[in-house]
Amino acid sequence: MEAETGIIENANGSARFKIGKTEAIAAVYGPSEVKPKHLEKVDRGIILCKYDMMPFSVPDRAKPGIDRRDMEIGEVITNALNRAVLLEEMPRSMIAVNVYVSQADAGTRCASLTAASMACADAGLPMRDLVASVAGGKIGDSICLDLTKEEEDFHEAAATDVPMGFLPSKNEIVLLQLDGKVTREDLRKIIEIGKMGAARIYELEKKALKRRFLNESKT
Ligand code: CDP
Repeated sequence: MEAETGIIENANGSARFKIGKTEAIAAVYGPSEVKPKHLEKVDRGIILCKYDMMPFSVPDRAKPGIDRRDMEIGEVITNALNRAVLLEEMPRSMIAVNVYVSQADAGTRCASLTAASMACADAGLPMRDLVASVAGGKIGDSICLDLTKEEEDFHEAAATDVPMGFLPSKNEIVLLQLDGKVTREDLRKIIEIGKMGAARIYELEKKALKRRFLNESKT
């Protein structure tokens, strides 16, 4: 895994997160005036997140533009960030989050959410916690963490994919989806292994942010 922040000069906050062969880059703009105006909330800020895969991120060339899958992923990332960012502290404002997947090998929504949360922190937004996100699952009888595309598509063993996002210091789950079938007991095990993975990601995120702010204070 690799994590770094402050990678985009022209954004208020930015980050890159790589896990295996999946890599996401996030840029955060704001808080700024809400556009379009009708989305404005008098008592809190709003987050608008766009997720996109770069054409060269997958072997088949991803079609440029936002499709239904991209919209859904943008929504789940927004929902998770809504729990992490203290939006009540920035009424009538908007935070734009743009996430791009530069390399995809499954788990892109999780890598994107992790990158987006680091970018929010890099932008100096008030937050309850960082989000650490990873997918878990089951391949045959094995409970696994961070499945690859090949593992996800392993139909013979009916693989199950469970993207998860955590606020580690609050012990809260902010993203939980399920693709496939799973028993209650196995889901519990997948969440446990997800929490363990998220704890490692969390440490990396904090290290990346500290590195950036220590360097900045030296200059
Ligand atoms: O990426 P994530 O697992 O969050 O979402 P998914 O919809 O389950 O996609 C799984 C994987 O399918 C992606 O990570 C890509 O590796 C691949 N994919 C692709 O090759 N072409 C697309 N247009 C969309 C996804």
